[in-house]
Amino acid sequence: MTDQNWDSHLPLPYQSLSHYQWTPIQIVELTWEYLQKQTIRSVVDLGSGVGKFCLHLATLSKGRFPIVGIEDRSDLFTVSETLREKWNLSSVSFLNQSFLEDFPLGHSHYYAFNPLYETMKASFSIDMQKEKSALLFLQSVQILKNHLFRCKVGTKLITYHGFGGSVLPGYQLVLKKELEMGEWAVWERVV
Ligand SMILES: C[S@@+](CC[C@H](N)C(=O)[O-])C[C@H]1O[C@@H](n2cnc3c(N)ncnc32)[C@H](O)[C@@H]1O
Repeated sequence: MTDQNWDSHLPLPYQSLSHYQWTPIQIVELTWEYLQKQTIRSVVDLGSGVGKFCLHLATLSKGRFPIVGIEDRSDLFTVSETLREKWNLSSVSFLNQSFLEDFPLGHSHYYAFNPLYETMKASFSIDMQKEKSALLFLQSVQILKNHLFRCKVGTKLITYHGFGGSVLPGYQLVLKKELEMGEWAVWERVV
């Protein structure tokens, strides 16, 4: 599978955003390589976009564990649902909600491709639906940190291009790869 191939299933405007907004296939594969050595209850993508991370991970893992994508933009949620149905990937489910307002507790692994960054930057935005504000960004990152703090010891957060901050209270950085396409890291909730 290549990015070009996967992205060709998207409506055209979303194909051109892929490089900036959707996880590259190589990163999904690297994450799968890591997950294969883990005991997994379920994986959640915080800000699942068009569903690229969730759907490709479900294909690679052959439905071995539940994968949940949470996306607050209804148009992106609809694209991900359409592809999920088309490819009959029953281990994936998508929820159209905000993880800041309604955080999904109880999963073993979380994934985030810097979902709050768009609050700060106007370039390569998905759309102009959301307010851009440095203050809002800082407040949102704090809310996310508070939610993650409530997760059980042993919970893992996998990040691509970070989660929006450099310090994550209650977590230890356990893995980090500086790749040409961006930083990939794993954080673990510790006592
Ligand atoms: C950089 S994209 C990553 C998309 C997907 N995880 C992937 O890697 O292909 C970040 C996504 O997070 C979504 N997002 C941002 N804030 C959110 C929130 N509070 N709740 C749910 N989704 C959110 C955005 O709409 C966007 O689709």
